[in-house]
Amino acid sequence: MKAKIAVLQGDGVGREIVPEAVKVLKVVAEKFGHQFEFANSDVGGQAIDKVGVPLPQETLTLAKQSDAVLLGAVGGPKWEGLEYSLRPERALLGLREQLGLYANLRPAKLYDVLADASTLKKDVIQGIDILVIRELTGGIYFGKPKGIEKLAHGGERGTNTEVYTTEEIRRIAKVGFEAARKRRKKLTSVDKANVLESSELWRRVVIDVRKDYPDVELNHMYVDNAAMQLVRNPRQFDVMLCNNMFGDILSDEAAMLTGSIGMLPSASVGAQVGLFEPIHGSAPDIAGKNIANPIATIASAAMMLSYAFKLDKEAELIEQAIVKTLDLGYRTKDIQSTGTRLVGTTEMGDAIVRNLN
Ligand code: IPM
Ligand code: MG
Repeated sequence: MKAKIAVLQGDGVGREIVPEAVKVLKVVAEKFGHQFEFANSDVGGQAIDKVGVPLPQETLTLAKQSDAVLLGAVGGPKWEGLEYSLRPERALLGLREQLGLYANLRPAKLYDVLADASTLKKDVIQGIDILVIRELTGGIYFGKPKGIEKLAHGGERGTNTEVYTTEEIRRIAKVGFEAARKRRKKLTSVDKANVLESSELWRRVVIDVRKDYPDVELNHMYVDNAAMQLVRNPRQFDVMLCNNMFGDILSDEAAMLTGSIGMLPSASVGAQVGLFEPIHGSAPDIAGKNIANPIATIASAAMMLSYAFKLDKEAELIEQAIVKTLDLGYRTKDIQSTGTRLVGTTEMGDAIVRNLN
C-alpha cells in the first residue's frame, strides 16, 4: 500500500526516538512492499524557535493531508516561561482538537522479561494487560471559561472548567465498549461522580451506552480509588474508560507498572487522520545523550500500522521484534537490570530492526 506519514519529531528526546521508529517503518515497508512517504515538519518548541508559534499552519496542513501522524514529544525548560497559548504543549492540544482525535488508546502491557524493571513486586504486576482509553478533546483541558484574571482587590484568579456533553461521553464510551468486546470484555469507567456533576452525567451516559453491549461487564470506580487499585491489584483491569484529565494521570501510573514510561505507546483516533505518539514527554534531562528508550515510539509506529492502515501482520512483526530484542537482553538505561546489556537509543533501534524477521 501507499501511505503518507507526517513526522513531527518535536523537542528533547523526540528528536532521537522518532528517527528510530522511522527506521523501523522503512524496513517494514521494504519487507512487505509498501510505499511509505515520510514528510517532516516542526512542532512544539522547535516551531516556536523557527516561526514563533508551537503549531504552525504548515504543520497542521501537512497533518491533515497525511494518512497518519507520527509524533515524538514537545516541551522543555526553554519555553516554560511563555504565555500558555504559546507553549509547546499547545501544539499537542491543537493537533488533537483540529484533527478531531477524541479517543486516545494507551495500552499498558507487561513484557514478561521486564517484570524486574518495575518498582512494583513481580507477583502484583505479572500478566497485566490494561488498555487505558482517554477522552482527548473535551473536559477540563478545553472547557470554558478558562484563564487567569486580575482581581480588583489584588491577587489573581485562575479558572478551568470541567465540562462534558452527552454526545462527547457517548462516543468515547462506545470506543471503550467496542475495545472491551475485542478483549476480555470488562470495562471500568473511572469518574468522580460522588462530587462532580460532569462525572454524574458521565456515569449516566456510560450506563446508557452499555445497553448496546450486554456482553461487556461494566463497573464504575472513583478516580482516587482507581489510582489506588492500579498499584494494589492491577490485574483486575481490562479496559479503563477515563475522561481527559483522569486518563492523563492514570496512564502515567499504568505505564510505571510495566517498568518504564519509556515503554508505552499511544494511538489517538476518532477521525480520518490518526496520531501516534509515545505517552512520555520530551525528557529534557536526558535529551541529546543517546540514552532515551525508543520502544514506546516504535510501538506507536506499530499501532499506526494496525489502526491507521489495517496492516496487522506488519504491526505484529514490530511487536515481536521488540519482544525478541528484550529477550536477548538489550536494555536502555530506564529498564536496565543486572545481567542485561545496556545500549543507547540508536543501538536499541538497530537491534529491533535486526529482529524484524
Ligand atoms: C500526555 C501529555 C500531554 C497531556 C501534555 C504534554 C500536554 O502529558 O499526552 O499525556 O497532558 O495530554
Ligand atoms: Mg500525560
